[in-house]
Amino acid sequence: MDDFNDQTPEIGQVDSSPDATGSRQQFDVVVIGGGPGGYAAALYGASAGLNVALVEMDKIGGTCLHRGCIPAKELLETAAIVRTVKHAGEFGVIVEPKAVDWSITLQRKQEVINKLAGGVVMLLKNRKVTMFNGFGSLGADKVVNIAGADGEHAVVTGDAIILAPGSVPRVIPGFEPDGTIVVTSDEFFHLTQIPRRAVVIGGGAIGCEFASTLADLGSSVTILEALPKVLPGCDDDVTRVVLQSFKKKDITVRSGVAVTGHSPNPVGGTTVYFGEGETIDTDVVVVSVGRVPYSSGLLTPGTNVQVTERGHLDVDDLCRTAEPSVWAIGDAIASPQLAHVAFAEGILAIKDILGESPTPIDYGKVPWAIYCHPEVAFAGHSEASAKAAGYEVVASKHRFAGNSRAQILGETDGLVKIIAEKRSNGTAGTVLGVHMVGPWVTEQLSGGYLAVNWEATVDEVAALIQPHPSLTELFGESMLALTGRSLHG
Ligand code: NAI
Repeated sequence: MDDFNDQTPEIGQVDSSPDATGSRQQFDVVVIGGGPGGYAAALYGASAGLNVALVEMDKIGGTCLHRGCIPAKELLETAAIVRTVKHAGEFGVIVEPKAVDWSITLQRKQEVINKLAGGVVMLLKNRKVTMFNGFGSLGADKVVNIAGADGEHAVVTGDAIILAPGSVPRVIPGFEPDGTIVVTSDEFFHLTQIPRRAVVIGGGAIGCEFASTLADLGSSVTILEALPKVLPGCDDDVTRVVLQSFKKKDITVRSGVAVTGHSPNPVGGTTVYFGEGETIDTDVVVVSVGRVPYSSGLLTPGTNVQVTERGHLDVDDLCRTAEPSVWAIGDAIASPQLAHVAFAEGILAIKDILGESPTPIDYGKVPWAIYCHPEVAFAGHSEASAKAAGYEVVASKHRFAGNSRAQILGETDGLVKIIAEKRSNGTAGTVLGVHMVGPWVTEQLSGGYLAVNWEATVDEVAALIQPHPSLTELFGESMLALTGRSLHG
């Protein structure tokens, strides 16, 4: 560890040395919040030579690493292993039926989290980012007060401030989490056993991922969704495939129903009331009805950072708040609540701080990846949203059932759908959207993402070669078909 790092407070402490409190340590950038947005801003800023402080009240890595994306995908992988073992006989591999040892599952999940979290902290240390473990609040003149859990206190200032406080699960009145019967994503990862029955309230990304995991692990799952369809925002053809696959897993999906309450049963579990006087008994209720920005206590008098009616930190298209030299990024602003969007916003803010005139993020074209089984991935317009935006469109759909690699894997549910602008002569022009559902599509989206964001035409992408045999051939085939000729499509 070099000299600078000797002064760096260990994670778990606030630096209350005279240097820190007396003379108010001064940084080029002070970042509040150590989730994907905040740590990305810190790493990127430090790699550009800025002297950065990162203030985090809990653990570096935030929701994504400790209570969100990473643990959710880790458990989905356990579910995938269960499916593989179940179908091993089809490949001539004879295995004894085995049970899931949940304690080992949770232990492996924690090991992955710990390794990744340790890696981020090491990167921050190597880049000489000064880390403070405490609650940061912004006051006048870009002064940040840091209160440690043990009563310690430090004050730092930055030429620039980046606010990245994140979000917390939205809770429905009457369904306050208790950690055993009613859980949000915060508590889900600490369930001590796989529930026999589960009700998932909310059929968005989180709800569908948890429902898929639990069903593959053997739970009897019901999704209760208030809107007419689950996965709002996905193309209808994609949602249809997810629903068909969920049906095969015996997941019951009830959309267009409101939940009204629940009453715990003396024998365990609870009865959930929903719809027009309907009830369902369950062991666990998973509440996944969205996330709300977390900015409580972040702003103290003297700042001009504005908060919207819905609780978001108000920013312009460069993530600038109304307070000069103060940026806000990540789940706390009104942009898609995705870790990779937060990364991009962290980079954007640093570039703006460096005076590099960055291009605003085109939020309508960011990549989306939902890791339920089958997976969903998309970028750009769905067919419905393109039409609603006034485009005349041509769409092509190709199913994994005809793809050689998908047949080899035994994973043939799914499709690739491409939406292109219709030229005046009726042919397909610029690619507006690429929507996928099926095996490993979250790993296959990048070509589609580039096509949409580079505003490529169908002809340009169709001329590019995909490896054979591969799942991505379906993307190439769908593009080729839109040129009016095709091979297998
Ligand atoms: P969401 O907003 O995506 O979905 C919540 C769903 O709950 C909506 O369909 C909504 O209609 C429904 N709902 C709301 N109130 C309800 C009620 N009282 N009864 C029944 N249904 C109700 O939120 P979600 O899934 O909780 O995810 C939170 C955020 O995290 C989202 O922005 C999501 O995109 C992001 N996320 C993304 C992931 C991914 O891309 N893989 C994974 C996890 C989260």
